[in-house]
Formats: sequence, C-alpha cells, structure tokens
Amino acid sequence: MDKLIIKGGVSLNGEIRIAGAKNSALPILAASLLTRDTVQIRNLPHLYDITTMLELLGCMGVEPIVDEKLSVEINSGTINSFSAPYELVKTMRASILVLGPLLACYGQAEVALPGGCAIGSRPVNLHISALESMGASIRVEDGYIKATVDGRLKGSHIFMDLVTVTGTENVMMAATLADGRTVIENAAREPEVVDLANCLIEMGARIEGQGTDTVIIDGVPELHGCSYSVMPDRIETGTYLIAAAATRGRVRVKDTRPDILDAVLAKLEQAGADIKVGKDWIELDMHGRRPRSVSLRTAPYPAFPTDMQAQFTALNAIAEGTGSITETVFENRFMHVHEMNRMGAAIRVEGNTVIVDGVEMLKGAPVMATDLRASASLIIAGLVSDNETSVDRIYHIDRGYECIEEKLQLLGAKIRRVPS
Ligand code: UD1
Repeated sequence: MDKLIIKGGVSLNGEIRIAGAKNSALPILAASLLTRDTVQIRNLPHLYDITTMLELLGCMGVEPIVDEKLSVEINSGTINSFSAPYELVKTMRASILVLGPLLACYGQAEVALPGGCAIGSRPVNLHISALESMGASIRVEDGYIKATVDGRLKGSHIFMDLVTVTGTENVMMAATLADGRTVIENAAREPEVVDLANCLIEMGARIEGQGTDTVIIDGVPELHGCSYSVMPDRIETGTYLIAAAATRGRVRVKDTRPDILDAVLAKLEQAGADIKVGKDWIELDMHGRRPRSVSLRTAPYPAFPTDMQAQFTALNAIAEGTGSITETVFENRFMHVHEMNRMGAAIRVEGNTVIVDGVEMLKGAPVMATDLRASASLIIAGLVSDNETSVDRIYHIDRGYECIEEKLQLLGAKIRRVPS
C-alpha cells in the first residue's frame, strides 16, 4: 500500500487540466447496459473507481474496449450475468447504479447490498422502494438485493423522501425503458444527474426537468448507442482551488465548468481569493495573503457540496479567525478532524458542526486517510504544514483524484508517492 509524503510550506502556482467527473462517468458507464448498441464514452477520468465499474461490467460478460485516449466503447450485447458481486460492491458503493439499468433492460438484477462506510450508514432503501413502485419485485436475501420484473417496468409517480443522487440516477435510468411516464419529485439537481440525463437523451430517452427537483421521463421501447463526453469534475476543480487558497498561491484550472461551482467560488471569495473565470477555466489568486475563515453548511446542489466539506475544514484550520462548518448530508463525515488535530489544528466537533479556530501553520505528522474527500483534505493540510507529513491509506485518493501527485507537482508542491 502506497503513501504520500508531503513537504509543506510551498505556495501552489501554475496551471492544470481538470479530468472528467467521476460521479457522472460512473452512472454513464452503467447506462451503457440499457442498450445492446455500442456506447462510446469520452473524457473518462483515470481513476480506480472507473476501473472497478469496468471490471463490474466485465464480470457480467460485457467487454469494454479502452482506447489510448481513455475513451471506452461498451457493447452490452454479450451480457451473460446480471449480478454485481459483493467483492466489487464493497470497494465501490456506486456499483448500485447497475440495478436500475439491468432491471429495466433484462428484467432481473442481483446487487450486493452496500454496507455502511466511513461517512455513515448510507442505506439504499429509496432506490428499492422507487423501483418497487414501478412494478419490480425486490427482496433482500443473503446480503443481496434480488430484483425481477415481469415484462417492462411501469411508469410511476415517485416522491423521494430525501434528495439522493444515485437514487435519482437509478430510477431515471430504469424509467427510460418503462411503460409510460415516470415523475420523480424531490429529485437530486446535481450537475452529474443532468450529465447522465443528457447522455440518456443522446441514447434516445425522453427526459425533461433534469436539473430541477421534478424530473419527467416518458419510457421508450428501446435505446440506441451514442458517443458522449463526460463533463468536467467540479469536486476535483474545487479541491485544487482550495489547495491554492490555503497555500496563499495562484493557480489556473482549465477544461472545467465555473457555472456549476457558484457555492464554492463564493466561499473562496469570502476567504479572500481573487477569482476570475472564463467559459472553461478558473483562476484563483491569493496575492500571497493568508485566507480568512469561512462558515458554511453542506446541502444538496445547488448548495455547498458535502464532497468539499473536508477540504474547507483544512483551509479553515490555517485561516485567520474562527469558522463553523455544518454537515447536513452525511451523519459521520468528520473523521479527518481528528487527524488534523494531530497536526496541530484547533478543531472541535459539536454534533454535526465543526468549529475551527485557525492557527498560523500546521505541523507535519503521519496521518491516515479514511475516505476519499478526507484524504484530499489531509493532503491540503500537509501542504500547509511546517515540515513533513505522510498520508497513509491513499488508495482512497486514487479512487477519485487522477494523478494527484503529478498535478500537485506541476503546481510546485513537494509531494511524492512511496510504498509504505
Ligand atoms: C452521491 C455521490 C457522493 C456524494 C453524495 C452526496 C456518486 C457516485 N456519489 O452519493 O460523492 O457525496 O451523492 O452529494 O454520485 N439516503 C437514504 N436512503 C437512500 C439513499 C440515500 O437514506 O436510499 C441518504 C444517505 O444516507 C445520505 C443522503 O441520503 O445521508 C444523500 O445520499 P445520496 O445522495 O444518495 O449519496 P450517494 O448517491 O450515495
């Protein structure tokens, strides 16, 4: 297992390119199961989670072909199994995204029930009840969700009790091939849901309202192939901007989308960053100044994303003043706080809020990554430490950040990967 060694104290400076969005690429790969035609997916990020999804398709008998530009062509005509085994689901919860497509296209699916994880219990009850209301018979047995339907799923009026991103995506994919109209109320409005909807529309689906809280899908008898380019990753974008702000640096990120980062850019400006944007780039300049603390509250899009909470906690840790950060999406997403306190941060947890008293600088220490975004926050903490930090268990970071040490090196950071 590798670890990252970071020598802090360098202001990030330079330009990097942002990869395709992990959280769009995963449902779009799953959507390829909705047709027996070939689907070509471009701008896939080079990530461990993407490899896991390709492996999952592979164990169903589908053989994705990856070209040198990392575009992938998928033809699910060779499918011979409708099961997502526990070995893959336990490494990537987003495997649940094959449930809707398999059920809609093949009338059967078995997906291992994802367990809890480092950020909370994360049930999938809303995926199951929505598919049941569309006529599926579902039982949970031997740790698996076993779903079947006689003939086509039926359009249904669904109210989601909670805003769920993959839940909305699963139901939207299933509804594309259902008989009649499905209405999803209290749907997730995340840009990745919109990206998936746009890909499904390219495949012949009839969808309206994506990006609002009511998505309407009129089922069609079949979908066809298409070629689709995944949107840029807003969480990767935000992470590099926060790292630049924390280190008092100046960076330009290109091949990204400023229009889907309003909540994050507003907080960076409050922290003292000078921000300029173009159609597909963002430039952040701290003019060498120490950031100011910000207070924020996570919530579904368009509010501040939970996937950027840990990184802002790292920024606040060395900012001027006191900031409070409230997590409303996941029940236990503060594992990074204890590690940051071991690095000299002054953070206390009160219920679902952390109160951060900024200190001038952190102190390097060996720390352990507990989940994907927590890992990113510990790297940021390492970049603002006065000596050496080692971040262990970085397999988490490879799930969601493409070439993170190369990109940070390009920005001047002293970071290297070593076997632990
Ligand atoms: C997705 C993202 C993840 C992000 C999260 C919230 C992907 C692959 N992952 O995860 O990066 O952090 O959205 O923006 O896109 N819930 C239930 N029952 C359900 C479903 C969800 O109670 O059936 C709860 C969850 O426990 C959580 C909340 O709803 O508290 C939101 O979770 P959800 O939006 O479903 O997260 P994911 O789709 O798993």
